[in-house]
Amino acid sequence: MKTNISIAIDGPSASGKSTVAKLIASELGFLYVDTGAMYRAFTYACLIKGIDPKDKEKSCDLIGKINIAFNDENKITLDGVDVSKEIRTPEVADNVSYIASYTPVRKDLIRAQREIAKGRNVVMDGRDIGSYVLPDSQVKIYQIADAEERAIRRHKENLEKGLHSTYEEVLENVKKRDYIDSHREFSPLVEAEGSIRIDTTHMTIDEVKNAIINIIKEKGLI
Ligand code: DC
Repeated sequence: MKTNISIAIDGPSASGKSTVAKLIASELGFLYVDTGAMYRAFTYACLIKGIDPKDKEKSCDLIGKINIAFNDENKITLDGVDVSKEIRTPEVADNVSYIASYTPVRKDLIRAQREIAKGRNVVMDGRDIGSYVLPDSQVKIYQIADAEERAIRRHKENLEKGLHSTYEEVLENVKKRDYIDSHREFSPLVEAEGSIRIDTTHMTIDEVKNAIINIIKEKGLI
């Protein structure tokens, strides 16, 4: 099999990227890299250290003082501790866009993301993977869905996880994150050049997964 293949899956929050990316990675035997989890872990670090994520200076001060990485089970860790559950709370979701808008934080995490992908076959999901992190990705997908549909999906997920939030709150959070993610100065959410747009509003997870696998096959990568 070829090596150093990267599949970039970008798009707005709750568009189903991570579910699909995980399935594709597992089917192809590629490493799945959830870059959103890294921004969430940084946000969680601020919160537990009593730093307001809206305070850019204090938040950026943590760069180099905390360690964010994936463990052998591909779970996100903060200073070696698995925080994969802690990063999914509404409090982290409400604050992560501020952290993700700080250029020094982005540069630090992007460096780590490129390091992870080096010499490996990866499916990496995020906002700026095809446009900035791995611009040489052989396949770039821009996965979208209507905000209302994305809020329904995220709300359902929250309920299944026992997290309390109303549909209206989730919709507001989705729209707020869309705005902040696409208006930041450095590596914003954009549709990368050469990317293939997939609108998943009326598609099942399996249909999206198969569509992307077919694109990868058509390119002769697998
Ligand atoms: O994919 P997610 O919802 O877990 O991402 C959490 C936040 O991190 C989201 O508001 C956007 C930001 N993010 C980013 O700016 N760049 C990435 N590559 C991935 C996520």
